[in-house]
Amino acid sequence: MKKVLLAVTSGIACYKALDVCSGLKKKGYDVTVIMSENASKLISPLLFQILTGNKVHTELFSLEDTKVTHINLIKENDLVVIVPATLNIISKLACGINDDFISTTLSATDPYKTLIFPAMNTRMYEGFACKENLEKLRKYGFTIIEPDSGLLACGDTGKGKLPQVNDIIDEIVFNLEKSNILKGKNILITAGGTKEKIDPVRYITNKSSGKMGYALARQAAFLGANVTLISTDTNLNIPNHLKTFIKVSSAEQMYNEVMNYHKNQDLIIMAAAISDFKVKNYSQHKIKKSEMKELKLDLELNKDILFELSKIEPRDFTLVGFAAESQNLKENALKKLKNKNLDYIIANDISNQAIGFDSDLNKVFIYDKELNESEIEMNTKDIVAKSILINIFDKL
Ligand code: CTP
Repeated sequence: MKKVLLAVTSGIACYKALDVCSGLKKKGYDVTVIMSENASKLISPLLFQILTGNKVHTELFSLEDTKVTHINLIKENDLVVIVPATLNIISKLACGINDDFISTTLSATDPYKTLIFPAMNTRMYEGFACKENLEKLRKYGFTIIEPDSGLLACGDTGKGKLPQVNDIIDEIVFNLEKSNILKGKNILITAGGTKEKIDPVRYITNKSSGKMGYALARQAAFLGANVTLISTDTNLNIPNHLKTFIKVSSAEQMYNEVMNYHKNQDLIIMAAAISDFKVKNYSQHKIKKSEMKELKLDLELNKDILFELSKIEPRDFTLVGFAAESQNLKENALKKLKNKNLDYIIANDISNQAIGFDSDLNKVFIYDKELNESEIEMNTKDIVAKSILINIFDKL
């Protein structure tokens, strides 16, 4: 289990550190919190202690400590994150000032394993002291995550807002999990369910949430790949550190974008649920009930993107399709592998509610051209995605 040291200082946004802490715990990380004295006046350290199950440290000289706590905390953790980082802690860290527990602890950190999330009033953030001290920290090797712009707690509008909790968690997880296994590889992934318009207000779609495609994109980025994600509109956070993100709606738009981006890819994974058909006569105006003499929609076939990709010569990318089946899983998956001339097909059983559409879990079988089968046990879609990527690349 990887360990995170979460340093909380007294910006107004420090209440968000509670959600960051709880989000990291839910993802399975062991979190220890240290707080500045002022932060501990704004939020009770006890709350963090309950959330993490670990002692919260705030004092430099505590009679309870039998070890040199501030040094041990730095040595024991895989990553240090400062959320939020006030101008005070940024300046102390840049200048080597150690006058309390948190600044003394942070002065022993490895800059390359430390993320700083500044949050403060715009005038302070853009003022001389912050600029110069952040520049210094960057030069030492610290990673500074720029704050968002918007309405601040003091009523001013501008840069200085702590980013959204999900974005903070994604950035922390990225830094904990990143590796070079797929460094230099170009990977194109499609995700989500397409929408086929009937008229300006109606469309045909499917139950795909996009979660599996997003998990593949996130994990491929963690593994160091240059990821292009082509996705329909979903409710999901766009993963950090993608090379390119393209939003599409219909199968036709997805086809056009895949064809735009397929060159120079090492691997293409079609995880999107693409409509096999579209409406033949799209109505420019909203169809009235009275106009529908017969309740009938004329449909025509969409292009099969995988099949079109499989015909490209020379084919210098590995092509992977998904087969979401509710019956005869293996038989149907192998048919798609053969008919669409794929290198791999990933089969999942959508009749199983625990791993069906919109679930956070999945369990898949990977089949290659020689019909070898690899089973990936039921797990979160992120873990399954990582296993799929490693499995495929191992065999290339
Ligand atoms: N796919 C595609 N283009 C389409 C339809 C599907 O590229 N027009 C891709 C999907 O992204 C997936 C694979 O083909 O990787 C299998 O999709 P699926 O909907 O399971 O299969 P179909 O080929 O559409 O066959 P059927 O609907 O009869 O099961």
